[in-house]
Amino acid sequence: MDKIIINGGKKLRGEVKISGSKNAALPILFAALLTDEPVTITNVPSLADIDTTLAFLNFIGKTAVKKGGTVKTLASKNYKHIAPYDLVRKMRASVLIMGPLLARLNKVDVSLPGGCAIGARPIDIHLDAFRQLGANIEVESGYVKTAAEKGLFGANINFRFPSVGATENIMLAAVLAKGKTKIINAAKEPEIADMADMLNKMGAKVSGAGTKTITIEGVEKLHGCTHRVIPDRIEAATYLIAAAITKGSVVLKDVVPEHLKAVSGKLKKCGMSIKETKNSVSAKWVKDLKPCDISTEVYPGFPTDVQAQWMALMCILKGKSCVKENVFENRFLHVAELQRLGADLAVDGKFVNIKGVEKLSGAPVMVSDLRAGAALVLAGLAAEGKSTVNRIYHLDRGYESLEKKLKKLGADIKRTRT
Ligand code: EPU
Repeated sequence: MDKIIINGGKKLRGEVKISGSKNAALPILFAALLTDEPVTITNVPSLADIDTTLAFLNFIGKTAVKKGGTVKTLASKNYKHIAPYDLVRKMRASVLIMGPLLARLNKVDVSLPGGCAIGARPIDIHLDAFRQLGANIEVESGYVKTAAEKGLFGANINFRFPSVGATENIMLAAVLAKGKTKIINAAKEPEIADMADMLNKMGAKVSGAGTKTITIEGVEKLHGCTHRVIPDRIEAATYLIAAAITKGSVVLKDVVPEHLKAVSGKLKKCGMSIKETKNSVSAKWVKDLKPCDISTEVYPGFPTDVQAQWMALMCILKGKSCVKENVFENRFLHVAELQRLGADLAVDGKFVNIKGVEKLSGAPVMVSDLRAGAALVLAGLAAEGKSTVNRIYHLDRGYESLEKKLKKLGADIKRTRT
Protein backbone atom coordinates (compact mmCIF):
# COMPACT_ATOMS: atom_id res chain seq x y z
CA MET A 1 0.00 0.00 0.00
CA ASP A 2 1.33 3.46 -0.90
CA LYS A 3 2.14 6.05 1.78
CA ILE A 4 3.09 9.70 1.66
CA ILE A 5 6.03 10.88 3.73
CA ILE A 6 6.31 14.58 4.48
CA ASN A 7 9.05 16.49 6.23
CA GLY A 8 7.13 19.57 7.28
CA GLY A 9 8.16 23.18 7.60
CA LYS A 10 8.81 24.17 3.99
CA LYS A 11 7.06 27.29 2.68
CA LEU A 12 5.28 26.54 -0.58
CA ARG A 13 6.03 28.93 -3.43
CA GLY A 14 5.23 28.98 -7.11
CA GLU A 15 2.51 28.15 -9.61
CA VAL A 16 0.24 25.12 -9.73
CA LYS A 17 -2.04 24.12 -12.59
CA ILE A 18 -5.42 23.03 -11.32
CA SER A 19 -6.89 19.87 -12.87
CA GLY A 20 -10.36 19.30 -14.26
CA SER A 21 -13.08 18.83 -11.66
CA LYS A 22 -13.66 15.28 -10.43
CA ASN A 23 -17.22 16.03 -9.35
CA ALA A 24 -18.07 17.60 -12.74
CA ALA A 25 -16.31 14.92 -14.80
CA LEU A 26 -18.16 12.03 -13.13
CA PRO A 27 -21.75 13.03 -14.06
CA ILE A 28 -20.51 14.25 -17.45
CA LEU A 29 -19.06 10.81 -18.20
CA PHE A 30 -22.38 9.19 -17.25
CA ALA A 31 -24.16 11.69 -19.55
CA ALA A 32 -22.34 10.11 -22.51
CA LEU A 33 -24.73 7.15 -22.09
CA LEU A 34 -27.56 9.39 -23.30
CA THR A 35 -26.40 9.23 -26.93
CA ASP A 36 -25.26 6.50 -29.31
CA GLU A 37 -22.99 8.96 -31.06
CA PRO A 38 -19.34 9.49 -30.08
CA VAL A 39 -18.59 12.05 -27.35
CA THR A 40 -15.26 13.72 -26.55
CA ILE A 41 -14.62 15.09 -23.06
CA THR A 42 -11.44 17.04 -22.31
CA ASN A 43 -9.73 18.24 -19.12
CA VAL A 44 -10.65 14.95 -17.42
CA PRO A 45 -8.37 14.41 -14.40
CA SER A 46 -6.44 11.16 -13.93
CA LEU A 47 -8.00 9.77 -10.77
CA ALA A 48 -9.11 6.44 -9.38
CA ASP A 49 -12.78 7.55 -9.45
CA ILE A 50 -12.49 8.37 -13.16
CA ASP A 51 -10.98 4.92 -13.85
CA THR A 52 -13.84 3.33 -11.90
CA THR A 53 -16.37 5.28 -13.98
CA LEU A 54 -14.70 4.30 -17.26
CA ALA A 55 -14.70 0.63 -16.21
CA PHE A 56 -18.37 1.02 -15.32
CA LEU A 57 -19.28 2.56 -18.70
CA ASN A 58 -17.38 -0.18 -20.54
CA PHE A 59 -19.16 -2.84 -18.47
CA ILE A 60 -22.56 -1.34 -19.34
CA GLY A 61 -21.68 -1.39 -23.05
CA LYS A 62 -20.39 2.12 -23.73
CA THR A 63 -16.80 1.93 -24.98
CA ALA A 64 -14.92 4.76 -23.27
CA VAL A 65 -11.18 5.29 -23.64
CA LYS A 66 -8.97 7.82 -21.83
CA LYS A 67 -5.75 9.16 -23.34
CA GLY A 68 -4.09 11.92 -21.31
CA GLY A 69 -6.89 14.24 -20.22
CA THR A 70 -9.26 13.28 -23.04
CA VAL A 71 -11.99 10.67 -22.86
CA LYS A 72 -13.61 9.50 -26.07
CA THR A 73 -16.70 7.36 -26.05
CA LEU A 74 -17.55 5.41 -29.19
CA ALA A 75 -20.82 4.80 -30.97
CA SER A 76 -22.79 2.17 -29.05
CA LYS A 77 -25.99 0.22 -29.38
CA ASN A 78 -26.78 -2.20 -26.58
CA TYR A 79 -26.49 -1.40 -22.91
CA LYS A 80 -26.83 -3.74 -19.96
CA HIS A 81 -29.38 -2.56 -17.40
CA ILE A 82 -27.72 -3.99 -14.29
CA ALA A 83 -25.13 -2.18 -12.18
CA PRO A 84 -23.65 -4.84 -9.88
CA TYR A 85 -22.41 -4.51 -6.32
CA ASP A 86 -18.72 -4.78 -7.25
CA LEU A 87 -18.90 -1.62 -9.34
CA VAL A 88 -21.27 0.41 -7.16
CA ARG A 89 -19.47 -0.26 -3.87
CA LYS A 90 -16.26 1.34 -5.19
CA MET A 91 -17.82 4.74 -5.69
CA ARG A 92 -21.07 6.28 -4.49
CA ALA A 93 -21.38 8.41 -7.62
CA SER A 94 -22.17 5.11 -9.40
CA VAL A 95 -25.83 5.81 -8.61
CA LEU A 96 -25.64 8.36 -11.45
CA ILE A 97 -26.01 5.40 -13.81
CA MET A 98 -29.72 5.38 -12.91
CA GLY A 99 -30.85 8.54 -14.69
CA PRO A 100 -29.31 7.84 -18.11
CA LEU A 101 -30.21 4.12 -18.16
CA LEU A 102 -33.76 4.74 -17.05
CA ALA A 103 -34.04 7.32 -19.84
CA ARG A 104 -32.53 5.01 -22.47
CA LEU A 105 -33.80 1.55 -21.45
CA ASN A 106 -36.83 2.35 -19.27
CA LYS A 107 -35.33 0.11 -16.62
CA VAL A 108 -32.27 -0.17 -14.44
CA ASP A 109 -31.24 -2.35 -11.48
CA VAL A 110 -28.58 -0.81 -9.26
CA SER A 111 -26.98 -2.39 -6.25
CA LEU A 112 -27.92 -0.23 -3.24
CA PRO A 113 -24.95 1.96 -2.34
CA GLY A 114 -24.19 1.52 1.35
CA GLY A 115 -23.17 4.31 3.68
CA CYS A 116 -19.58 5.45 3.74
CA ALA A 117 -17.09 6.98 6.16
CA ILE A 118 -18.78 10.39 6.08
CA GLY A 119 -22.33 9.26 6.77
CA ALA A 120 -25.33 7.10 5.81
CA ARG A 121 -25.87 8.99 2.55
CA PRO A 122 -29.30 7.64 1.55
CA ILE A 123 -30.68 8.08 -2.00
CA ASP A 124 -34.33 8.69 -1.08
CA ILE A 125 -34.41 12.07 -2.86
CA HIS A 126 -33.27 10.42 -6.12
CA LEU A 127 -35.84 7.63 -5.79
CA ASP A 128 -38.79 9.90 -4.88
CA ALA A 129 -38.03 12.03 -7.93
CA PHE A 130 -37.77 9.03 -10.28
CA ARG A 131 -41.18 7.92 -8.99
CA GLN A 132 -42.58 11.34 -9.85
CA LEU A 133 -41.23 10.92 -13.39
CA GLY A 134 -43.28 7.71 -13.64
CA ALA A 135 -40.86 5.01 -12.50
CA ASN A 136 -41.84 2.08 -10.36
CA ILE A 137 -39.23 1.27 -7.73
CA GLU A 138 -38.69 -1.83 -5.66
CA VAL A 139 -35.85 -2.77 -3.40
CA GLU A 140 -35.05 -6.47 -3.58
CA SER A 141 -31.97 -8.54 -2.66
CA GLY A 142 -29.83 -5.45 -2.17
CA TYR A 143 -30.80 -3.96 -5.53
CA VAL A 144 -32.95 -0.93 -6.36
CA LYS A 145 -35.04 -2.15 -9.28
CA THR A 146 -36.45 0.70 -11.30
CA ALA A 147 -38.79 0.37 -14.26
CA ALA A 148 -40.84 2.83 -16.30
CA GLU A 149 -42.68 0.61 -18.76
CA LYS A 150 -44.48 3.49 -20.43
CA GLY A 151 -41.41 5.73 -20.37
CA LEU A 152 -40.68 8.80 -18.27
CA PHE A 153 -42.97 11.84 -18.11
CA GLY A 154 -41.95 15.34 -17.07
CA ALA A 155 -43.12 16.52 -13.64
CA ASN A 156 -42.68 19.31 -11.10
CA ILE A 157 -40.33 17.92 -8.48
CA ASN A 158 -39.69 19.65 -5.18
CA PHE A 159 -36.54 18.45 -3.41
CA ARG A 160 -36.64 18.43 0.42
CA PHE A 161 -32.87 19.18 0.28
CA PRO A 162 -30.80 20.43 -2.68
CA SER A 163 -28.87 17.18 -3.19
CA VAL A 164 -26.10 17.45 -5.78
CA GLY A 165 -26.35 13.83 -6.91
CA ALA A 166 -30.16 13.82 -7.05
CA THR A 167 -30.20 17.03 -9.11
CA GLU A 168 -27.77 15.44 -11.58
CA ASN A 169 -29.55 12.09 -11.70
CA ILE A 170 -32.95 13.63 -12.35
CA MET A 171 -31.57 15.96 -15.04
CA LEU A 172 -29.94 12.95 -16.72
CA ALA A 173 -33.32 11.19 -16.80
CA ALA A 174 -35.54 14.16 -17.62
CA VAL A 175 -33.64 15.30 -20.75
CA LEU A 176 -35.20 12.36 -22.64
CA ALA A 177 -38.58 12.28 -20.80
CA LYS A 178 -41.83 13.29 -22.48
CA GLY A 179 -42.74 16.87 -21.56
CA LYS A 180 -41.37 19.41 -19.13
CA THR A 181 -39.66 18.76 -15.79
CA LYS A 182 -39.05 21.40 -13.18
CA ILE A 183 -36.66 20.70 -10.31
CA ILE A 184 -37.48 23.04 -7.45
CA ASN A 185 -34.89 23.48 -4.66
CA ALA A 186 -32.22 22.06 -6.99
CA ALA A 187 -28.54 22.10 -6.05
CA LYS A 188 -26.71 25.14 -7.46
CA GLU A 189 -23.16 23.79 -7.54
CA PRO A 190 -21.01 24.79 -10.57
CA GLU A 191 -20.61 21.10 -11.45
CA ILE A 192 -24.34 20.98 -12.18
CA ALA A 193 -24.16 24.00 -14.50
CA ASP A 194 -21.22 22.32 -16.25
CA MET A 195 -23.18 19.12 -16.83
CA ALA A 196 -26.12 21.17 -18.12
CA ASP A 197 -23.78 22.88 -20.60
CA MET A 198 -22.70 19.49 -21.88
CA LEU A 199 -26.32 18.25 -22.11
CA ASN A 200 -27.33 21.36 -24.06
CA LYS A 201 -24.42 20.78 -26.48
CA MET A 202 -25.90 17.30 -27.00
CA GLY A 203 -29.23 18.87 -27.99
CA ALA A 204 -30.99 18.88 -24.60
CA LYS A 205 -33.14 21.79 -23.46
CA VAL A 206 -32.03 22.61 -19.94
CA SER A 207 -32.35 26.07 -18.42
CA GLY A 208 -31.75 27.47 -14.96
CA ALA A 209 -28.87 25.12 -14.00
CA GLY A 210 -26.83 26.88 -11.34
CA THR A 211 -30.01 28.38 -9.82
CA LYS A 212 -32.50 26.71 -7.49
CA THR A 213 -35.04 26.05 -10.25
CA ILE A 214 -34.00 23.97 -13.23
CA THR A 215 -36.33 23.46 -16.17
CA ILE A 216 -35.87 20.63 -18.63
CA GLU A 217 -37.89 20.23 -21.82
CA GLY A 218 -37.60 16.58 -22.82
CA VAL A 219 -36.33 15.86 -26.35
CA GLU A 220 -36.53 12.68 -28.46
CA LYS A 221 -32.84 12.10 -28.99
CA LEU A 222 -29.43 13.49 -28.07
CA HIS A 223 -26.33 13.63 -30.25
CA GLY A 224 -22.56 13.58 -29.72
CA CYS A 225 -20.51 16.62 -28.65
CA THR A 226 -17.17 17.83 -27.37
CA HIS A 227 -16.98 19.30 -23.89
CA ARG A 228 -14.23 20.64 -21.61
CA VAL A 229 -14.68 19.96 -17.89
CA ILE A 230 -14.48 22.99 -15.54
CA PRO A 231 -11.50 23.34 -13.16
CA ASP A 232 -11.68 21.57 -9.80
CA ARG A 233 -12.66 24.19 -7.21
CA ILE A 234 -12.01 21.80 -4.31
CA GLU A 235 -8.49 20.93 -5.46
CA ALA A 236 -7.90 24.68 -5.99
CA ALA A 237 -9.15 25.55 -2.49
CA THR A 238 -6.85 22.89 -1.02
CA TYR A 239 -3.80 24.59 -2.63
CA LEU A 240 -4.95 28.02 -1.39
CA ILE A 241 -4.99 26.62 2.13
CA ALA A 242 -1.58 24.99 1.49
CA ALA A 243 -0.19 28.49 0.87
CA ALA A 244 -1.71 29.76 4.11
CA ILE A 245 -0.69 26.83 6.31
CA THR A 246 2.97 26.96 5.13
CA LYS A 247 3.20 30.78 5.20
CA GLY A 248 3.93 30.60 1.50
CA SER A 249 2.81 32.13 -1.76
CA VAL A 250 0.98 30.10 -4.42
CA VAL A 251 -0.56 31.03 -7.76
CA LEU A 252 -3.35 28.79 -9.02
CA LYS A 253 -3.54 28.57 -12.81
CA ASP A 254 -6.62 27.60 -14.78
CA VAL A 255 -9.33 28.22 -12.19
CA VAL A 256 -12.66 30.05 -12.08
CA PRO A 257 -12.08 32.61 -9.27
CA GLU A 258 -15.84 33.01 -8.77
CA HIS A 259 -16.13 29.32 -7.78
CA LEU A 260 -13.55 29.88 -5.02
CA LYS A 261 -15.12 32.95 -3.40
CA ALA A 262 -16.36 31.23 -0.23
CA VAL A 263 -12.86 29.95 0.58
CA SER A 264 -10.76 32.83 -0.78
CA GLY A 265 -13.04 35.31 1.06
CA LYS A 266 -12.46 33.52 4.39
CA LEU A 267 -8.71 33.38 3.76
CA LYS A 268 -8.74 37.13 3.16
CA LYS A 269 -10.53 37.58 6.49
CA CYS A 270 -7.77 35.56 8.16
CA GLY A 271 -5.21 37.98 6.69
CA MET A 272 -3.97 36.29 3.50
CA SER A 273 -3.34 38.53 0.50
CA ILE A 274 -5.57 37.20 -2.31
CA LYS A 275 -5.38 38.43 -5.90
CA GLU A 276 -7.44 37.32 -8.85
CA THR A 277 -7.25 37.54 -12.62
CA LYS A 278 -9.78 36.11 -15.06
CA ASN A 279 -8.49 32.55 -14.63
CA SER A 280 -5.97 32.61 -11.78
CA VAL A 281 -5.96 33.23 -8.04
CA SER A 282 -2.88 33.92 -5.95
CA ALA A 283 -2.63 33.56 -2.20
CA LYS A 284 0.29 35.10 -0.33
CA TRP A 285 1.09 34.98 3.37
CA VAL A 286 2.08 38.48 4.48
CA LYS A 287 1.39 38.53 8.24
CA ASP A 288 0.28 36.28 11.10
CA LEU A 289 -3.19 34.94 10.32
CA LYS A 290 -6.22 35.24 12.58
CA PRO A 291 -8.55 32.25 13.02
CA CYS A 292 -11.98 32.43 11.42
CA ASP A 293 -15.13 30.33 11.97
CA ILE A 294 -16.81 28.48 9.12
CA SER A 295 -20.13 26.75 8.69
CA THR A 296 -20.51 24.46 5.68
CA GLU A 297 -23.42 25.15 3.35
CA VAL A 298 -24.52 24.22 -0.14
CA TYR A 299 -23.05 26.38 -2.93
CA PRO A 300 -22.31 29.28 -2.87
CA GLY A 301 -21.67 28.71 0.85
CA PHE A 302 -18.47 27.28 2.32
CA PRO A 303 -18.04 23.80 0.75
CA THR A 304 -18.21 20.74 2.97
CA ASP A 305 -15.44 19.33 0.77
CA VAL A 306 -13.05 21.97 2.18
CA GLN A 307 -14.13 21.71 5.83
CA ALA A 308 -11.37 19.28 6.84
CA GLN A 309 -8.62 21.28 5.11
CA TRP A 310 -9.86 24.48 6.77
CA MET A 311 -9.75 22.79 10.16
CA ALA A 312 -6.11 21.82 9.56
CA LEU A 313 -5.28 25.50 9.03
CA MET A 314 -7.21 26.66 12.13
CA CYS A 315 -5.23 24.15 14.25
CA ILE A 316 -2.11 26.33 14.04
CA LEU A 317 -3.59 29.86 14.18
CA LYS A 318 -3.33 31.62 17.54
CA GLY A 319 -6.77 31.88 19.17
CA LYS A 320 -10.07 30.02 19.09
CA SER A 321 -12.29 29.10 16.17
CA CYS A 322 -15.22 26.87 15.39
CA VAL A 323 -16.13 24.67 12.42
CA LYS A 324 -19.74 23.63 11.87
CA GLU A 325 -20.63 20.79 9.46
CA ASN A 326 -24.18 21.10 8.12
CA VAL A 327 -24.15 18.91 5.01
CA PHE A 328 -22.92 15.51 6.25
CA GLU A 329 -23.71 13.84 9.54
CA ASN A 330 -20.30 12.35 10.28
CA ARG A 331 -17.56 14.26 8.53
CA PHE A 332 -15.11 14.69 11.42
CA LEU A 333 -12.99 11.54 11.06
CA HIS A 334 -9.91 13.71 10.53
CA VAL A 335 -10.24 15.15 14.06
CA ALA A 336 -8.64 12.20 15.84
CA GLU A 337 -5.79 12.12 13.31
CA LEU A 338 -5.16 15.88 13.59
CA GLN A 339 -5.02 15.35 17.37
CA ARG A 340 -2.23 12.83 16.79
CA LEU A 341 -0.25 15.69 15.27
CA GLY A 342 -0.85 17.78 18.40
CA ALA A 343 -4.00 19.73 17.48
CA ASP A 344 -6.34 20.90 20.27
CA LEU A 345 -9.82 20.00 19.02
CA ALA A 346 -13.12 19.15 20.72
CA VAL A 347 -16.08 17.67 18.84
CA ASP A 348 -19.51 18.76 20.02
CA GLY A 349 -22.23 17.38 17.74
CA LYS A 350 -22.10 19.33 14.49
CA PHE A 351 -19.34 21.57 15.87
CA VAL A 352 -15.63 21.28 16.34
CA ASN A 353 -14.07 23.81 18.71
CA ILE A 354 -10.46 24.55 17.92
CA LYS A 355 -7.77 26.13 20.08
CA GLY A 356 -4.79 27.07 17.97
CA VAL A 357 -1.51 25.46 19.09
CA GLU A 358 1.95 26.89 18.53
CA LYS A 359 3.06 23.99 16.42
CA LEU A 360 2.03 20.57 15.18
CA SER A 361 4.57 17.77 15.31
CA GLY A 362 4.93 15.10 12.66
CA ALA A 363 3.49 11.63 13.35
CA PRO A 364 2.07 8.63 11.49
CA VAL A 365 -1.57 9.25 10.53
CA MET A 366 -4.27 7.36 8.68
CA VAL A 367 -6.62 8.66 6.00
CA SER A 368 -10.33 7.80 6.38
CA ASP A 369 -11.76 9.63 3.36
CA LEU A 370 -10.65 11.86 0.52
CA ARG A 371 -10.88 15.31 2.11
CA ALA A 372 -9.73 14.09 5.52
CA GLY A 373 -6.63 12.90 3.65
CA ALA A 374 -6.10 16.34 2.15
CA ALA A 375 -6.34 17.87 5.63
CA LEU A 376 -3.71 15.47 6.97
CA VAL A 377 -1.32 16.25 4.12
CA LEU A 378 -1.78 19.99 4.78
CA ALA A 379 -1.18 19.48 8.49
CA GLY A 380 1.91 17.40 7.67
CA LEU A 381 3.26 20.24 5.51
CA ALA A 382 2.99 22.60 8.49
CA ALA A 383 4.12 20.18 11.19
CA GLU A 384 7.64 20.02 12.58
CA GLY A 385 9.39 16.80 11.57
CA LYS A 386 8.23 13.74 9.68
CA SER A 387 4.63 12.69 9.05
CA THR A 388 3.68 9.43 7.38
CA VAL A 389 0.25 9.52 5.78
CA ASN A 390 -1.18 6.00 5.42
CA ARG A 391 -4.06 4.72 3.26
CA ILE A 392 -3.55 7.32 0.58
CA TYR A 393 -5.70 5.41 -1.91
CA HIS A 394 -8.46 7.75 -0.69
CA LEU A 395 -6.38 10.71 -1.92
CA ASP A 396 -5.82 9.07 -5.30
CA ARG A 397 -9.60 9.14 -5.80
CA GLY A 398 -9.66 12.92 -5.96
CA TYR A 399 -6.26 14.67 -6.22
CA GLU A 400 -4.36 14.38 -9.49
CA SER A 401 -0.55 14.15 -8.99
CA LEU A 402 -0.86 15.48 -5.45
CA GLU A 403 2.69 14.87 -4.28
CA LYS A 404 4.20 15.92 -7.64
CA LYS A 405 2.35 19.23 -7.55
CA LEU A 406 3.31 19.85 -3.91
CA LYS A 407 6.93 18.93 -4.57
CA LYS A 408 7.06 21.40 -7.45
CA LEU A 409 5.86 24.06 -5.00
CA GLY A 410 8.78 23.20 -2.70
CA ALA A 411 7.34 20.64 -0.29
CA ASP A 412 9.56 17.86 1.03
CA ILE A 413 7.17 15.05 0.16
CA LYS A 414 7.44 11.61 -1.37
CA ARG A 415 5.33 8.54 -2.05
CA THR A 416 6.63 5.16 -0.95
CA ARG A 417 5.31 1.62 -1.21
CA THR A 418 5.44 -0.97 1.55
N1 EPU B 1 -28.95 13.07 1.02
C1 EPU B 1 -30.09 12.44 1.45
N2 EPU B 1 -30.85 11.79 0.52
C2 EPU B 1 -30.50 11.76 -0.80
C3 EPU B 1 -29.34 12.41 -1.23
C4 EPU B 1 -28.57 13.06 -0.28
O1 EPU B 1 -30.42 12.46 2.63
O2 EPU B 1 -31.26 11.14 -1.59
C5 EPU B 1 -28.10 13.76 2.02
C6 EPU B 1 -26.73 13.07 2.15
O3 EPU B 1 -26.78 11.99 3.05
C7 EPU B 1 -25.84 14.20 2.61
C8 EPU B 1 -26.44 15.44 1.94
O4 EPU B 1 -27.78 15.06 1.57
O5 EPU B 1 -25.91 14.34 4.00
C9 EPU B 1 -25.67 15.93 0.72
O6 EPU B 1 -25.64 14.92 -0.26
P1 EPU B 1 -25.56 15.23 -1.81
O7 EPU B 1 -26.51 14.30 -2.50
O8 EPU B 1 -25.70 16.69 -2.06
O9 EPU B 1 -24.07 14.79 -2.13
P2 EPU B 1 -23.57 13.76 -3.20
O10 EPU B 1 -24.18 14.03 -4.51
O11 EPU B 1 -23.62 12.39 -2.64
C10 EPU B 1 -21.63 15.35 -3.95
C11 EPU B 1 -20.13 15.25 -4.08
C12 EPU B 1 -19.52 15.19 -2.70
C13 EPU B 1 -19.90 16.46 -1.95
C14 EPU B 1 -21.43 16.60 -1.90
C15 EPU B 1 -21.90 17.90 -1.26
C16 EPU B 1 -19.85 14.08 -6.17
C17 EPU B 1 -19.44 12.85 -6.88
N3 EPU B 1 -19.80 14.05 -4.84
O12 EPU B 1 -22.03 14.17 -3.26
O13 EPU B 1 -18.11 15.15 -2.88
O14 EPU B 1 -19.40 16.42 -0.64
O15 EPU B 1 -21.96 16.55 -3.25
O16 EPU B 1 -21.39 18.99 -1.92
O17 EPU B 1 -20.20 15.08 -6.79
C18 EPU B 1 -15.89 14.68 -2.33
O18 EPU B 1 -15.58 15.08 -3.46
O19 EPU B 1 -15.05 14.46 -1.42
C19 EPU B 1 -17.30 14.46 -2.02
C20 EPU B 1 -17.71 13.72 -1.00
